Amino acid sequence: MRFKQPIKRIHHAPPRAGRGPKRPVSSTHGLVVGAGWARIKTPAVERSDGSDHTSMSCGRVDRGIDLAAPLLRDAPPDRSRRAFPHFGLVLMSQSRVGLWLIGAYGGVGATITLGLRAMARGLVDQTGLVSALPLFDGLSLPEPGDIVVGGHEIRSTSFEAAAQEFRQNSGVFEVGWIDACRPDLAAAAARVQPGTLLGAGPAIQKLGSWVGDDDETNPRHIIDRLGADLDEFARENAIRHLIVLNVASTEPPFPANPAHDTWTALDRALRAGKGSILPTSSLYAAAALERGHTYLNFTPSLGASIPALAELAESTGALHGGKDGKTGETLMKTVLAPMFSQRNLRVLSWVGHNIFGNRDGLVLDDPANKSSKVETKDKVVTGVLGYKPASVVSIEYVPDMGDWKTAWDHIHFRGFLGTKMTLQFIWQGCDSLLAAPLAIDLARLADLEKQRGGRGLMRHLASFFKSPEGVAEHDYFKQFQMLVDHVESGRPRDAAAAAGKPPRPSLDPRD
Ligand SMILES: NC(=O)c1ccc[n+]([C@@H]2O[C@H](COP(=O)([O-])OP(=O)(O)OC[C@H]3O[C@@H](n4cnc5c(N)ncnc54)[C@H](O)[C@@H]3O)[C@@H](O)[C@H]2O)c1
Repeated sequence: MRFKQPIKRIHHAPPRAGRGPKRPVSSTHGLVVGAGWARIKTPAVERSDGSDHTSMSCGRVDRGIDLAAPLLRDAPPDRSRRAFPHFGLVLMSQSRVGLWLIGAYGGVGATITLGLRAMARGLVDQTGLVSALPLFDGLSLPEPGDIVVGGHEIRSTSFEAAAQEFRQNSGVFEVGWIDACRPDLAAAAARVQPGTLLGAGPAIQKLGSWVGDDDETNPRHIIDRLGADLDEFARENAIRHLIVLNVASTEPPFPANPAHDTWTALDRALRAGKGSILPTSSLYAAAALERGHTYLNFTPSLGASIPALAELAESTGALHGGKDGKTGETLMKTVLAPMFSQRNLRVLSWVGHNIFGNRDGLVLDDPANKSSKVETKDKVVTGVLGYKPASVVSIEYVPDMGDWKTAWDHIHFRGFLGTKMTLQFIWQGCDSLLAAPLAIDLARLADLEKQRGGRGLMRHLASFFKSPEGVAEHDYFKQFQMLVDHVESGRPRDAAAAAGKPPRPSLDPRD
């Protein structure tokens, strides 16, 4: 066995010419013996208290004999946490997925991070995760413990402080979960880097000022600095697939610019140092897509939604998707509107009032930032019905409500013989607890797509978004069917056999 001593960084170098197999040999679990050259990805090892990891690397092997396999054969189903009692270690899958959160310490970011670790430690079940439905049985989705969190922030705090604040203000999370996950949260916080505020607008700039030391007016420098953070995170943590997820505060709408039309024009403008060429969310998106990382936009901000960045993603093979997670009132709209359509009931007006009190609400209290959200919430009903009823969408900040959002919707409609009737509903949801599982689903499904060799826009994720990019369909059930069809059509033969289902043909127009 030729393990070198534990090392800090993964070796990405290919085997030297003429000295090894043509195709890299890699171990499922990273423990391989033999002689000869092979590219073996470094396994990451986490101590049983979850506090830290080290990396090991082996270079020369002859045959890929996987030492870990016999030890792990009878291990519990969570692939990431298989105990090696004699080493006192928990060996993590060598192919870890990185989840880089833009807005890491926000309500959604902190809930994702605590939720992943609480699931990995077996403290909570997977209720609320779409990706835990039987539809996904037999597919190689990353387990919660396979996902390593890092991120960018503009407020210098920690995941533990964010979770505690949330607990106090909104009465969510059991204190025992935070206690049990404390070392994990500290390890994740150590991977959070200062973000940028260039192009963020005054409401967000008031939130914090933890940004890089570089020239904060030059977008090209900022993209390079943000990208370097991504590179370092991927290297240090043996990341196989890096997913950058925007869960930062909602920006004001950003005016279109001719430089947004092509990557050549945008790249030129960025190099010329034009600070106002992109909003903050798009700087982060450019840093991710330039490197071929997956970019997901859970917010209404611009992100990657311009032709220049779609072109960049196409050229680097990056996956992307967005925008604005569909978690509560808008989910209800896209579920109920098809009912009115299918019963031939004419919707005359749809009024929705939303009140909530978290930091997102504070930012959305600014009329400019609010207009981005109102736009994504308002257009879904018209999208389903095919005509525009009178509509009102209001979003008001009521601080004492914390993360609890109440939405009251009043739908006035006309039925047989011109009779007017009303449906009203009240939705009372805890925003971040609705959003975090969907964000985790998006990361898991994006990783599945990556394993399937996908690239570009992930249209099949439309059901997760208020404004699904590249998809005109807003009917929730049709969007969900797109996901089902896409997943089934790509189900590998062996996984289909394991799940007892034959692969089905896809209805997704991309396939
Ligand atoms: N919670 C939901 O149900 C839901 C649904 C759909 C969309 N969203 C969107 O998700 C986003 C996050 O929501 P939240 O409730 O967590 O909000 P939040 O205000 O609690 O968190 C946002 C975080 O982003 C950080 N941030 C702001 N600008 C940044 C920048 N330029 N770089 C790095 N970090 C930055 C803030 O400091 C804050 O910690 C919002 O845009 C929201 O509209 C939330």
